[in-house]
Order: sequence, then C-alpha cells, then structure tokens
Amino acid sequence: MAVRTDTPQPVQEWLVCEIRRLREERRAVILAHNYQVPEVQDLADFVGDSLGLAQAAARTDADVIVMCGVHFMAETAAILCPDKTVLLPDLEAGCSLAATVDAEQLRAWKREHPQGVVVAYVNTTAEVKAESDVCCTSTNAVRVVESIPEDREILFVPDSFLGSYVARVTGRRLHLWMGECHVHAGFTPEDVSRLVQAYPEAELLVHPECGCVTSCMYFLATGDLPAERTHILSTEGMVRRVRNSDAQTFLVATETGILHRMRKEAPGKQFVPVREDAVCQYMKRITVEKLYRSLRDGVHEVRVDPEVAARARRAIERMLSVS
Ligand code: 13P
Ligand code: SF4
Repeated sequence: MAVRTDTPQPVQEWLVCEIRRLREERRAVILAHNYQVPEVQDLADFVGDSLGLAQAAARTDADVIVMCGVHFMAETAAILCPDKTVLLPDLEAGCSLAATVDAEQLRAWKREHPQGVVVAYVNTTAEVKAESDVCCTSTNAVRVVESIPEDREILFVPDSFLGSYVARVTGRRLHLWMGECHVHAGFTPEDVSRLVQAYPEAELLVHPECGCVTSCMYFLATGDLPAERTHILSTEGMVRRVRNSDAQTFLVATETGILHRMRKEAPGKQFVPVREDAVCQYMKRITVEKLYRSLRDGVHEVRVDPEVAARARRAIERMLSVS
C-alpha cells in the first residue's frame, strides 16, 4: 500500500537540530506551502497559501528565504526581494499549470487582443508575469478582476477552471487560456456527489482550480448542493473555514497535503479527502533532507533576470495592493 503523504513521518532528531541551528546561523526563514509534507510544514516558520507566501517573503527581514514549495513561488519571492538569497531545496519542483503557458505564447495572444488587460495567476513563470498587467492568487482573483474597469477586455492565464469560476462570480466575460493543473483537473462532479451523499452533514470545501468547480457552482444554483455548507476557497481560506466553522466533518477537494495543516488547526474534527490520489509530486519533491542540504550548502539559488523581475514586480505589486 502506498504511504500516505499527509501522515507525518519520523524525522531524526539531529536533522531537526541542525536545520534549526543553520537557520539561525544563516539568518534564514523557512516558508512552506500548505501542500508540503507534514515534516516540512512542521519545521517551517510560516505555512500558507500562494498569497501568504508572497506576503511573508515581502515582509521578512531575514537574509535567506528557503522556499519549501514550487519554482514559481521561489521566483515570486526572488522578484519581491532582489537583495535576499532565495533557495529552492529541489529545482525539479515545478508546476504543470505554470508549464501550460510561456512568454512567447502570451505575447502572441496579446497581439490578438491588443486592448486586453492580462491577469496572470501566480502559478506562472517570471517571464509570463513580466508580460502581464496584474497577478492574482486563488484568494484574490475575484477582487483583482473586479478592480479592472468594466469596459476593459480581460485575458486570464493560465487556469481555465479558476478563470471560469471568476467569470461566473464577477459576471465578467473573460478570455480564458486553456491551462489546468493535472492534480486539480482530476476532481469530477461524480467524486463530489459520491462524498456528499456519504456524508450528508459535512461541509464541502472546493479549490477553484478543481475540474468540478463549474458543476459545483451549477449544483449550488439548482439547490443540489447546500449553499450554507459549500465553500469555494483558496487553501488558506479552507484552513480558516475549518477553524471557524461549527461543522465537525469536512470534505476537502484539493491536494491532500492540506489535511495535515487542517488537523493541526482544528484538532478533533474530521477531514475527508474527496480524492485520496490528489497528490502533487512537485510539491512532494521537497523533503526534510533536502531542506537541510539547502540550508547547509546554500542550494539551489533562484534568481530572476533584473529586467524581467522589474516588469514582473509591477504585476505582483498591483495584486498585493488590492489584497
Ligand atoms: P493556493 O494555496 O494559493 O490556494 O494555491 C494552490 C496551488 O495549487 C498552489 O500551487
Ligand atoms: Fe502546480 Fe497543481 Fe502542483 Fe499546485 S498542485 S503546484 S497548481 S501542479
């Protein structure tokens, strides 16, 4: 049987001590995404969603940022903190969604819509951000789109499920790039219906990158899903919800790494993954051993070309100003 990646694995005591010692010695801060393995989350100074990680990077006074997440997250930190050293413990920690659009493709799309405002989800490369007008995360995508004048055409890259969700909530017509995350695209309306029937009292939490999000919104409109017990949220929004809600059971439609965070934040409550196989192999490339080597050897530094970084920073800072 496969080892559950959301269950904490034992870590040797010397490794924990060394990581803590090196963190002090290097004046480093360890940031971890909610999908990281439990052992890495437990060693981090901050655990959060994409927006939280960008904000934490922007405000830290540490000399070194170790990003326990994927490559675009380390790039975002490097763009926001050009004077700091940003380390990614494994350079193979990529993102299938970010890989669906490159700068040349985006330039070609912009040529087809010369008046379009480009909204780029943070799950994009620095080069794509540099070609964009404003970034967004799953937390603020609706707010970002609402901040754009109504008469402007909007090009939304790269996640088509998040884009459709935002279009529906805001009532705006968006041009959507047909990208998807291979982990979230796998969630089907049938997965959701099966679990909702099995746990009729539970709250349903759905990430807007999920393949089932459009059907969920349709089921909400028809009353087939209870509006008071269905929430479409970013990973950090989900954590906040499980902490504050009176419900005891939650059906969780996103990557399973979040379950560890939920169990810590709301002990005693029950969390049921809508798909147990929703595991991002890129996020799981970061291990405690690699975190240790990263701090010990200063690897792998993520740098962004200064000219690209300057243009990308404008798009990220516009996003932060509406967050
Ligand atoms: P958030 O944590 O910002 O909701 O994003 C999910 C994700 O897929 C990050 O790669
Ligand atoms: Fe990218 Fe999907 Fe993995 Fe998030 S879960 S890092 S969007 S591949």
